Amino acid sequence: MSADDVVARAVAVLRAGGLVGLPTETVYGLAADAENPVAVQKIFAAKGRPADHPVIVHAGSFEDAQPYAAAFSAPAVALAQAFWPGPLTLIVRRSSRVPLLVTGGLDTVGLRVPRHPMALAILRAFGRAVAAPSANRFGAVSPTSAEHVRRDLGAAVDLVVDGGDSEVGLESTIVDLSGDAPAVLRAGAITTDQLTAVLGTPVPLRTEGGPRAPGTLPSHYAPRASVELVPDDTVTARLAALSARHSRVGFLGLRAPRAPVPPNVTAIIVGDEDPAALARTLYRSLRALDDAGCEVIVTTVPEERGLGVAIADRLRRAAAPR
Ligand code: TXA
Ligand code: MG
Repeated sequence: MSADDVVARAVAVLRAGGLVGLPTETVYGLAADAENPVAVQKIFAAKGRPADHPVIVHAGSFEDAQPYAAAFSAPAVALAQAFWPGPLTLIVRRSSRVPLLVTGGLDTVGLRVPRHPMALAILRAFGRAVAAPSANRFGAVSPTSAEHVRRDLGAAVDLVVDGGDSEVGLESTIVDLSGDAPAVLRAGAITTDQLTAVLGTPVPLRTEGGPRAPGTLPSHYAPRASVELVPDDTVTARLAALSARHSRVGFLGLRAPRAPVPPNVTAIIVGDEDPAALARTLYRSLRALDDAGCEVIVTTVPEERGLGVAIADRLRRAAAPR
């Protein structure tokens, strides 16, 4: 099928109120017509997602996003111009075009213009916005390939568009612009330094006490295996202890452990000090260790600078008590 045919099929599914697995540069989304509550309801059913959790609205351009907001403040315009299309979601007051089902009853809406060419082509051909959370079961690891979406959601999705492996690999940065001062609700590839450079004021990370946001629940983005975060210099000892008690143990790290590991350890070594490589492969690696039958996964927290902040955040949530 040609790219044009795929776009036409996706648009036909969206117009008919169906669900499309949509490739984006962050993770794959589960998309439905944002203005069709019956279609949006199918997203919640397919994901097993509680109804009071808001869904991000995706548009093909800044102009196409505008009708879904009551207004764009000066900081919202500045951030949209600097980072759209891209991995940034802006929380603003919603307009009446956004059904309450999409916002989980909130008076605000999350808006994003993704930069994956297939997503942009579909959004522009559809001509209106789609509501799309990550295309995984609620609480599980987000999908970064079409195959992940098929495996997680199967027949609940009418069409999965294959746009290759997601380029960023972690969900978008979420900035709340609906209050008195901007705040980051979820760390992502757009860093607080980049936001501060555009806005001219510090943008604090506010992960507690904000509106309902599943990505901000303590336990989220979790594989089947339990996850343990350990300091770099204790990896070898911890793998030895765990491998005596479990049939299979996983290790995920930037570098190989300093000493040889027991035979029942499956190790994934990213082998690249660039945090972008770790972000891109993080969810795929956690899924691969699940597939290998690991009961527990040992990993280390990267340096918390730049993209490392978002990676550390996802690893902590994966490791949080369930
Ligand atoms: O990168 C992404 O953002 C991906 C791709 C598909 O765009 N989407 C994604 O959606 O991660 P989801 O639903 O898995 O996470 C969206 C986050 C949730 O934590 C949700 O609560 C929050 O955005 N959110 C959405 N609307 C909100 C609002 N009005 N106020 C506060 N948080 C909101
Ligand atoms: Mg999600």
